[in-house]
Amino acid sequence: MITLALSKGRIFDETLPLLKAAGIEVLEDPEKSRKLILPTNQPNVRVVLVRASDVPTYVEYGGADLGVTGLDTLIEHGGQGLYQPLDLNIAKCRMSVAVRADYDYAAQVRTGARLKVATKYTAIARDFFATKGVHVDMIKLYGSMELAPLTGLADAIVDLVSTGNTLKANHLVEVERIMDISSRLVVNQAALKLKQAPIRAIIDAFAGAVKKD
Ligand code: PRP
Ligand code: MG
Repeated sequence: MITLALSKGRIFDETLPLLKAAGIEVLEDPEKSRKLILPTNQPNVRVVLVRASDVPTYVEYGGADLGVTGLDTLIEHGGQGLYQPLDLNIAKCRMSVAVRADYDYAAQVRTGARLKVATKYTAIARDFFATKGVHVDMIKLYGSMELAPLTGLADAIVDLVSTGNTLKANHLVEVERIMDISSRLVVNQAALKLKQAPIRAIIDAFAGAVKKD
């Protein structure tokens, strides 16, 4: 049995065409069913639905043989024990720093002020500000980061930006782009050895179906 870990939403939806290229069709719609294990048209392949931030953990410990995860989640996890053969070029967005429109970020950085930064992505944020030489107090949040500068919880946020609509709706502006994000295929290294042929077949089919920019 080959188990593929996916998260609901954009990653699931954008992985379907890649699965199709590998001859795999998921037989149930996660938006309609409460099932967490979804069968496919291939009796030896199943999809498990996990929280996006749990995909690397499932694959690391062998709860799934493969998974699709955002680069953001992968960096925060650390990537240890994971073979990362492919950038799938799906679920694309960017990781950015944003502040209130009336906050003079450049001046704060220039004068060496300490920044209060709220984010779900503490590893990426820490690394980014350390490289810039900016001292930060990190505030860990689990969602709705945009609220932090509006309520005085933080001076800045580090968050994913896709269309920019959420920033705009909350009167925040993007002041730095930290990195481009897309989803990656991750593979359990033991599974790759033990189930080499079927896993290689999936990797190769995905590789052939990845859309280039
Ligand atoms: C993500 C992200 C931003 C927003 C970006 O949040 O954290 O808030 O989407 O998308 P946009 O630029 O197209 O507006 P999500 O809705 O996943 O919720 P969460 O942060 O509360 O988990
Ligand atoms: Mg959000």
